[in-house]
Amino acid sequence: MNDVNDQSTQAPSYVNFGEIFYSPQFAAGCFNLTTRRLKDIEEQHGINIRRVARGNVPTRSYTSSDIFDIAALRRSLGQSKGIARQFVIATFVQKGGTGKTTEAVNLSLFLQLAGLKVLIIDNDPQGDTSSMLGFDPDLGPEDLEDMQIPADRLVDGHVGNVISPLLRMRAFDTKQLSDVIKKPFGENGPHLLPADSSLEDLGVALDAADNSDMWYATWIEAANSGRVPGCDLSVYDVIIFDNAPSGSRLTKNSVAASDLLLCPVRMDKFSFRALLRLHEWCARFAQAYRRAPAITAVPTMFIRNRSRLESNLAMLNDMFPGQVTDQRIYYSEDYSKAMEEGVPLLLWKSAGNKTVDTARAVYGEILSKIRTLTKSE
Ligand SMILES: Nc1ncnc2c1ncn2[C@@H]1O[C@H](COP(=O)(O)OP(=O)(O)OP(=O)(O)O)[C@@H](O)[C@H]1O
Ligand SMILES: [Mg+2]
Repeated sequence: MNDVNDQSTQAPSYVNFGEIFYSPQFAAGCFNLTTRRLKDIEEQHGINIRRVARGNVPTRSYTSSDIFDIAALRRSLGQSKGIARQFVIATFVQKGGTGKTTEAVNLSLFLQLAGLKVLIIDNDPQGDTSSMLGFDPDLGPEDLEDMQIPADRLVDGHVGNVISPLLRMRAFDTKQLSDVIKKPFGENGPHLLPADSSLEDLGVALDAADNSDMWYATWIEAANSGRVPGCDLSVYDVIIFDNAPSGSRLTKNSVAASDLLLCPVRMDKFSFRALLRLHEWCARFAQAYRRAPAITAVPTMFIRNRSRLESNLAMLNDMFPGQVTDQRIYYSEDYSKAMEEGVPLLLWKSAGNKTVDTARAVYGEILSKIRTLTKSE
């Protein structure tokens, strides 16, 4: 076992996702296909996956970008369905450490594997989503050079730079979306609009503007119809905002732009008061803006066979009837281990089947809800 001072217990500063190789079983599992069926798809469409020798047998060895390329191919072949219109999600719970970032990141991977094009926007100046996807916002160009991390891992801009043309008070230089977004798993993986601590200043700029809470909604609408130079959001099926644990100006903007609030609620350290606050906040927001995003509360860090947790879950269901996922995210060390290795859970090879299957079941429910909400219009 590692010594407590061993550096390897800390998050690595750089993981090259392109050098993580996955087995055919792992790749097929991402699509809920058999390895035979996956192989057929590859052969029919001339996809060449590199082979490595396992014993005497050459075995296919996939990178994450190979896996996402296959997801895109399946979409183009009609083997996975798109959605009727763009859908916007925001994580929201005014409590720290409930799994917002973990859920936002893994949901983005799940939806992309399901064939949707996802943009995940780090809307938290802490930049945890960016870090979880391999972009540490605290590292400047010299740090990257010193640590021999490729220069393209630099976080150089955030939502403030691309929304800037719309604002009268320009807190940030205007940048093209393509100069700011990151593609941690290649073109066909989810795209990331990262953040660093200077994103805080966008809140100040929005405080000074009229209609302070509506700028993200305006930006998305304008950028979907070609009215924001250098920023086309219409290519994305789903936009996910990951928020800080506060009802800040930035959070409110994302909520006002959203179709769905994703609220991960911890079952192990349950706070009824926090839940009540969440409930009241949503109600106040809906009244103030005459617009109520749907809510999905996800029970997280659930532990089996504990009566206290069962009663917490019952309380959550009482407070948000019909809005709690049937499946739960279970408490698992896999989450922290995956984070230590710098790889999100759904792409972490060592994750236990149960941990992954239960997470996928929750994300599958969210995808069904997205399909229902986009269809009913
Ligand atoms: N199901 C789980 N089981 C065990 N640990 C988990 C689980 N989900 C997340 N964690 C761990 O809990 C910690 C907090 O998770 P995360 O950063 O996603 O929370 P957050 O709500 O985004 O926090 P913040 O409010 O600071 O933004 C992380 O160390 C993460 O690895
Ligand atoms: Mg977070």
